[in-house]
Amino acid sequence: ADVDVDLKSLVRTIPDYPKPGIMFRDITTLIGDAAGLRSAVERLVEPYRDANIQAVAGIEARGFILGGAVAEKLNCGFIPIRKKGKLPYTAIGQDYELEYGIDVIEIHQDAIAAGERVLLIDDLIATGGTAEAAAKLLRKLDANLVGAAFVIDLPDLGGCARLASLGVKCHTLIGFE
Ligand code: PRP
Ligand code: HPA
Repeated sequence: ADVDVDLKSLVRTIPDYPKPGIMFRDITTLIGDAAGLRSAVERLVEPYRDANIQAVAGIEARGFILGGAVAEKLNCGFIPIRKKGKLPYTAIGQDYELEYGIDVIEIHQDAIAAGERVLLIDDLIATGGTAEAAAKLLRKLDANLVGAAFVIDLPDLGGCARLASLGVKCHTLIGFE
């Protein structure tokens, strides 16, 4: 069934994008495949079926695609975490380090009620800088961050270890060097 779909073979690798030496793991081929998308969403949801998740937060941009589908499966709402300046209502921000310089992600100030059980979703975790910033935003709103789930882990970059040190449990489906 869906668990048998080879997700790894559906990820396209593009050498030297966006710069020389980077092997870019492209999920457009996975999410463009009906069985691939269905299987990825099923496997993201699986550990949380009985976890009483009350909201799914997804990180712009690719976390929106998977997060929306996961929220629907878990019968809860979807909360967007966006790049600075994109949210229309009052937002709170958190900065995080990029390879060069810093960026800011934001969440609506009223997006989560205190104590709400939240699952964080993104397509991929690399250094974990983006997910750490998202976790900090959720905690600023006093969310109960139950876990963070990603289709792809790049374990050599240490993202899940970084989240673990913050007390955030990571669930990932496939890994690449
Ligand atoms: C990618 C990816 C994650 C993040 C992972 O997004 O979708 O959000 O990088 O990297 P990290 O673990 O080192 O923080 P990107 O910043 O390229 O934004 P995009 O989805 O808007 O293209
Ligand atoms: N693919 C997609 N997003 C990324 C990657 C990658 O290989 N590395 C860091 N963010």
